[in-house]
Amino acid sequence: MCGIVAYVGPKEAYPVILKGLKRLEYRGYDSSGVALLNSGLKVYKKKGKVAELEDSLMGKDLHANIGIGHTRWATHGEPCDRNAHPHSSSNGKLAMIHNGIIENYSQLKNELMKKGYQFTSDTDTEVLLKFIEDIQQNNHCTLEEAVRIALKRVVGAYVIVLIDEDNPDTLIAARKGSPLVIGIGKGEHFLASDASPIIEYTKEVVYVNDYELAIIRPDELILKNLGNEKITPFITKLDMELAAIEKGGYDHFMLKEIFEQPDTIFDCLRGRLDASLGTITMAGVQNNIDQIKNANRIIIIACGTSWHAGLLAEYIFEELCRIPVEVEYASEFRYRNPIVRPGDVIIAVSQSGETADTLVAIEKAKEQGAMIFGVVNVVGSSIARISNAGAYTHAGPEIGVASTKAFTAQLVVLTLIALKVAHEKGSIDQKRFIHLLNELHDIPEKVRTTLQTAEQVKTLAEKYKDAKDFLYLGRGYNFPIALEGALKLKEISYIHAEGYPAAEMKHGPIALVDETLPVVFVATKDSYHEKIVSNIQEIKARKGKVIAVVTEGDDTITAMADDVIAVPEADEILAPILSVIPLQLLAYYIGIAKDLDVDKPRNLAKSVTVE
Ligand code: AGP
Repeated sequence: MCGIVAYVGPKEAYPVILKGLKRLEYRGYDSSGVALLNSGLKVYKKKGKVAELEDSLMGKDLHANIGIGHTRWATHGEPCDRNAHPHSSSNGKLAMIHNGIIENYSQLKNELMKKGYQFTSDTDTEVLLKFIEDIQQNNHCTLEEAVRIALKRVVGAYVIVLIDEDNPDTLIAARKGSPLVIGIGKGEHFLASDASPIIEYTKEVVYVNDYELAIIRPDELILKNLGNEKITPFITKLDMELAAIEKGGYDHFMLKEIFEQPDTIFDCLRGRLDASLGTITMAGVQNNIDQIKNANRIIIIACGTSWHAGLLAEYIFEELCRIPVEVEYASEFRYRNPIVRPGDVIIAVSQSGETADTLVAIEKAKEQGAMIFGVVNVVGSSIARISNAGAYTHAGPEIGVASTKAFTAQLVVLTLIALKVAHEKGSIDQKRFIHLLNELHDIPEKVRTTLQTAEQVKTLAEKYKDAKDFLYLGRGYNFPIALEGALKLKEISYIHAEGYPAAEMKHGPIALVDETLPVVFVATKDSYHEKIVSNIQEIKARKGKVIAVVTEGDDTITAMADDVIAVPEADEILAPILSVIPLQLLAYYIGIAKDLDVDKPRNLAKSVTVE
């Protein structure tokens, strides 16, 4: 997500801001910029790393005692110089940085364009700034008042910081939904998305709350609500170290990202799912709906964890859309001589959008006339750019090498696509469609409930951490989750683990089973439940240790298994989003119990951009 840094006081603003932006690099970004005010407002911004911005500013007069800086994680408009922040008002007197999403920006943009405003970027941020500028000019009010009026019309999440040529000692900031911290110095103030850019200067901070607006000068901090009532700032003392702040107080990025999943899934659904209206809004799908719903075949191409998401999507698409689906390892697809016909639709699934095997595989498919639909997390990445259409997963930057929140976001987006296509195709009855929309709406809270099993899973990790091998078994929609659980364990704990269809055990692998082998069953309530119970009996009969992920209240399997982790009830198509979470946690806690580097496991890269 984006990073914000601002300063006003006696120091040189630029070095403070630049260092602060570097402190925020861990948040992931694709461009950066600064605005400095000293005899005129100067805005410098560019795509790429903060170091590239720094290099481009060598030799310029950067003297200023007030400034704002930003690292951008693209949500609206691909990464490029003109979409980078800060953005400038039409009259050039204002500059603004923003973290969040303005959901009604297109409506505001249309209103402004009718008034003659022009836009230099594709961002929602520029729209909000020019909306504020328009209010200030038409109402002949202060910038502070214009911000207050504007924010009452804004739908979405924001932290904004504005700098104003006409008030060279004042910053104005406001917050709703995204974090903003104000550092209290002696005759100076620091603003940032978290305390990491601030902590070296002061440990006294004010956490700005939703719907609050701050007017900041070197020796004055005024907090108000949007009703213009003053609020007494509550000053707290930071007791965290820098490293802990970057991880949001969690011990590792992987754990932070596992616990972010209720919010990232909510972000993934935001603006797309409206269960009360019974609608799914996805322009990338809608604009290509005929080609997708009439596809001869859907080929899903991916690697690793993204391939597991694709495998689950195969089950869901075939069940809901009645379209034949194949799932291909990109590395295999690209080297064999695959048959791809113009009526085929390729869905490329990738967190990074830069995986070389996936990129080359879809280039080959595109050459053979297939339509490419990208399901990608990184906005403006290579796979996103080569795709004919797509849907971003909006999971935010995933720092941990092992994919967790990106995976569940992929499952959500792929399910949304399948539901939308099935509804357009008429291959799902309205009652089931509405039922699944409501179930999907409830998933973020069910994920939050599932995360409460963390302590129980931690105990299991202690119990099984010395095992040499694991088996992960599942059937139907839970089979891909068994594969994903096994991959997580391998990646994070370096213990060999194998995912398998539960019914396939009797064709050989059951020879592995004895009292030293933990067998993890992904066994949430579904149409295979009776069968999975028999599979568990087969393992127990051979003294295997059974760890079962079950639906709350499943007394049958609870009585059979050695250890049980219960997740909330959910439709069998959506239950995998819940059942994967204890498996993510099991891998994490076993890795911790073995004192391994869970954020950067040996031999692994976050994005495999080599062949
Ligand atoms: C996920 O835990 C792994 N690190 C890896 O399998 C990853 O899913 C795979 O390399 C594909 O990456 P992508 O989603 O960025 O294309």
